[in-house]
Amino acid sequence: MSADTAVQPKIKIESVCKSYVIGGEREDVLTGVDMTVHAGEFVSIIGPSGCGKSTLLNIIAGLDRPDSGSVELFGDTTSDTKGRLGQTGYMQQKDLLLPWRSVLDNTILGLELKGVPRRQAREQALEFTEAFGLKGFEDQYPFALSGGMRQRASFLRTMLMNQDVVLLDEPFGALDALTRIQMQEWLLQLWESLNKTIVLITHDVDEALLLSDRVYLLSARPGQVTMVLDVPLPRPRRYNMVTSPEFSVFKAQLMEPLWSQIVGTQPGSASGTHTGRI
Ligand SMILES: Nc1ncnc2c1ncn2[C@@H]1O[C@H](COP(=O)(O)OP(=O)(O)OP(=O)(O)O)[C@@H](O)[C@H]1O
Ligand SMILES: [Mg+2]
Repeated sequence: MSADTAVQPKIKIESVCKSYVIGGEREDVLTGVDMTVHAGEFVSIIGPSGCGKSTLLNIIAGLDRPDSGSVELFGDTTSDTKGRLGQTGYMQQKDLLLPWRSVLDNTILGLELKGVPRRQAREQALEFTEAFGLKGFEDQYPFALSGGMRQRASFLRTMLMNQDVVLLDEPFGALDALTRIQMQEWLLQLWESLNKTIVLITHDVDEALLLSDRVYLLSARPGQVTMVLDVPLPRPRRYNMVTSPEFSVFKAQLMEPLWSQIVGTQPGSASGTHTGRI
């Protein structure tokens, strides 16, 4: 590997624009989005519903193509949309577990699609069920799992693809507050041990700040980056940091533009406190 390759970002997005026909009219969804993610970084994207966050991950993953702008994965300027397919681990917004497959067989789906024989894939998955809190539930079916377990099964399926870059679209969105905190702690520890590059979409300010090295704030649709906030809080991090004075400084920095967006896009009073969920 040359020195240049070593410092190349894992993901580099420049001036990405995307529009869709929505309600019969072509509408801009993303406009002029720039983003850079380096090896081993944890980066979050936060922004109002419908601002194009999932669209952006779909573009990075190669499931969709931008109308204009460039997307580089692993420094590969030539990779087109098809070339990016299968290069990242992607946990989409819905857990997409198949109800007719056991938990274990759901987790190996990606490996099987890659051509790994089922028995070998199962052996690989079994090595991780304990770390992912699924031990003893391998033969259960998804309906028998709690929301947190479903998310972990889906997450294990993503991680078994063993990609350097992992894209997580609101992995904890459907969870109650306590399970969510447990999952954040768990993800922090997992990430610290796995040395992956993670891009996470969230609606939760605390989650974004607690987990991330950097947070990208997107405006309401058409989504554009309105703020890039570095979060140089010390690591390893644990959930109780969210009440520290240092954390509050970053939270205030992120909440200020977010709050203007919320007030700017919703009718009614701006009085009262906001929880940090958007
Ligand atoms: N394939 C598509 N065809 C047409 N419109 C689409 C398509 N995908 C997304 N959209 C529209 O683009 C806009 C952005 O969608 P997207 O799912 O990226 O938003 P989001 O920021 O992820 O929202 P949420 O936070 O609710 O998940 C929405 O108005 C959506 O209806
Ligand atoms: Mg989305």
